[in-house]
Amino acid sequence: MGRLICVSNRVMTPQQTNTSGGLAVALSSALKQCGGVWMGWSGRISDETQLSVEDGAFTSVTLDMTQAEYDGGYLGYSNSVLWPVFHNRLDLARFDPTFFEAYVSFSARLADAIAQRVQPNDTIWVHDYHFVLLGQQLRARGVANPIGFFLHIPMPPPEAFLALPEYRTLGAALAAFDLVGLQTTSDVSNAIGCLRRSNGAQLLPSGRVSIDGARFALTRAPVTIDATDFAPAGPLVRSATVRRVLGVDRLDYTKGLPQKFRGFARLLERYPHFRKTTVLAQIAAPTRDSVEVYADIRQELEGISGAVNGAYGDVEWVPIHYVHRAVPRRKLGALYRSAAVGLITPLRDGMNLTAKEYVASQDASDPGVLVLSSFAGAAEDMEAALLVNPYCVDSIAEALAVALTMPLADRVARHRALMAVVGARDSQMWACDFVRQLGRAARINRGAPAVSVA
Ligand code: G6P
Repeated sequence: MGRLICVSNRVMTPQQTNTSGGLAVALSSALKQCGGVWMGWSGRISDETQLSVEDGAFTSVTLDMTQAEYDGGYLGYSNSVLWPVFHNRLDLARFDPTFFEAYVSFSARLADAIAQRVQPNDTIWVHDYHFVLLGQQLRARGVANPIGFFLHIPMPPPEAFLALPEYRTLGAALAAFDLVGLQTTSDVSNAIGCLRRSNGAQLLPSGRVSIDGARFALTRAPVTIDATDFAPAGPLVRSATVRRVLGVDRLDYTKGLPQKFRGFARLLERYPHFRKTTVLAQIAAPTRDSVEVYADIRQELEGISGAVNGAYGDVEWVPIHYVHRAVPRRKLGALYRSAAVGLITPLRDGMNLTAKEYVASQDASDPGVLVLSSFAGAAEDMEAALLVNPYCVDSIAEALAVALTMPLADRVARHRALMAVVGARDSQMWACDFVRQLGRAARINRGAPAVSVA
């Protein structure tokens, strides 16, 4: 059995414990249990080409980005082109023709590093939109190992995908992987729709996809959490006088934070009895703040929270507690548990692990209520949440009113149904299942008979 080599832009070293973003959380958890190698960006910008290596429960191998790769590749193509387009925000995309070259460059240098270190029995698992080209770049360097790809963000509909000037190149690059994993069934059908239109892909009777003779498999593999990490410890501590509605997100325009604040304000406007007894606490971890639209969303939120607090608050009660800072992961469980409602309102989201963490943290005998956007990937399996349309402020306000007055028996029943989903699988199962499917897909691709694995 060879090693698992995971590749993603953000890498946690074996000694790091804190991070934000679903990808790093899921991977660190899986790698701590399975071992292996985690390769990607060091988080530093320099012209240094030496790799940094750290050993522990797994080995991290990272590379610095040059200033041009950071500006054009990470801030540019990854986060000002692919991120908005894949989240269906074409209006926010910046199609600067210089970005793509920088995106190719870092990925190619990483491909060199992987090709030098890979051993014959290793399996390579590439993560997220920063590295769509990496499978193809590795094949070009003679790497014949099984290579899988998992997209943590949503797959857009074809109309958005075709707006990318490089759509054909990106589509063809996917065919270099043996297996491509996506979060939801609608992501899988979007991927088929995109690839048909961008590259004339054919869906084979086996369910595999063929592009110009190259074949690969597509699978839905929703990312999950380790629910036991959030299992309640100690007695439930909730304020008797003020009930907390909680949001924990990166400060990203995809997270629907202005809509959340306005929905909460509508609740206070429509149902005055919630004033003074309810607060919205929003933890908004800073992210990508050198991209202009992220600075805009920050300003917008400060404006809305100031206006709502000015309109409804008084000396004793501030309705919106807006914290522009990350909270250490070890403190999240208690925070989730103290909240009567978890309010998660992305306009579009690959999965949203906060929704799962909130559920896993609750006291089963007196649980809080999850209010979740139906546009989060998590909503596909979490139907027992109160699902809302974040574009409709009234939908958020009404769901909050229901959540805040929900009888105990209903809360317990919904929580039980949600825990059945969240507790059913952990991150190790997610990783092992994917790697097993990848092995099978690679064997089929190389013409060997598939060995069925129980
Ligand atoms: C999302 C993406 C990840 C990314 C994370 C944090 O979860 O899917 O790939 O790492 O956001 O974003 P950042 O730009 O800070 O890495």
